[in-house]
Amino acid sequence: MNAKILGTGSYLPEKVVTNHDLARVVDTSDEWIYERTGIKERRQANATETVAYMGHQAALAALSHAKMTPQDLDMIIVSTTTPTHNFPSTACQIQGMLQARQIPAFDITAACAGFIYILSIAHQYIKAGAAKNVLLVGVESMFRLCHPDDRSTLVLFGDGAGAVIVSASEEPGILASDIYADGKDGHLLKCHVVNREHETPQRHGTIEMQGNDVFKIAVRELSNLVKASLEQNNIEPADIDWLIPHQANLRIIRAVAKKLNMSLDKVVLTLDRHGNTSSASIPIALDEAVKSNRVQPGQTLLLEAFGGGFVWGSALIKY
Ligand code: UT7
Repeated sequence: MNAKILGTGSYLPEKVVTNHDLARVVDTSDEWIYERTGIKERRQANATETVAYMGHQAALAALSHAKMTPQDLDMIIVSTTTPTHNFPSTACQIQGMLQARQIPAFDITAACAGFIYILSIAHQYIKAGAAKNVLLVGVESMFRLCHPDDRSTLVLFGDGAGAVIVSASEEPGILASDIYADGKDGHLLKCHVVNREHETPQRHGTIEMQGNDVFKIAVRELSNLVKASLEQNNIEPADIDWLIPHQANLRIIRAVAKKLNMSLDKVVLTLDRHGNTSSASIPIALDEAVKSNRVQPGQTLLLEAFGGGFVWGSALIKY
């Protein structure tokens, strides 16, 4: 049985925060941010736009696009590193908000690669015949994890949600999904949980990143990954209609596209308007590309992401 994408949806908070807005808060500039990252602005969730709320909105849009109701779902998987509760999980909250049936619902944490991880899990369940219609949601409230005085992280991240319905199908859909992890360099990008065991430091509960080191490892691993994934599946770079990368840094995306000899015209970019929305970035970008009719049925898509852990992965999709 194949696993095919039947619907996409997304939700972005209303509030836009521009580079100029941030330059009034920390010692930075629009030029520095745009040149180093490709970001111009990002969205920031307000108090009512919780991760469950944003995820629910994106899920409703994806269900409507797939012409399904919540009753059709038999599994919900959410990727987030910014849940509002340790439990109930965001997936359970969304299951309740959707009034879906009593189906499995759980969260996965794999930082910016979270969406590739949950896509891969859905792929395996559907291939095995254990699920038919799976709702996937990547949702993040990253602003909350950025220290308000830390210019090195505050300018990078944004909030939002993307959702995808993956269903069992006779037609080809997800051709391959590959996920990896290596904890040895995990200290280069981390965020402590706020709890009594780790009382103290000033940066407690906010992102700490050795950006330049992360950058080099991300370029190395993603370049190796996309080449290997295409080779293993006998697909030539020229056969890829769209590269839909995690949106962390335009320079990382350019390096990966160059490795594949792909022009940026074949890359879906949202970074300039949304910043890095961590595990929400790929499903948001996919939804935008689908709804603007850039991604067409039958096209071949390559998705890839790298994030804290380190974790990374890719997926090849016949849309
Ligand atoms: O999504 C999950 C994975 N995360 C990533 O993939 C992020 C990977 N890393 C990056 O995207 C880039 O490393 C950054 C965008 C975070 C930083 O770019 P960079 O070219 O690696 O800059 P850098 O960290 O080497 O810093 C260069 C300079 C430093 O000043 P000095 O030491 O040269 O005087 C920083 O203090 O830029 C300074 N700087 C800033 N200046 C203005 C750092 N942040 C800012 C800022 N505005 N916001």
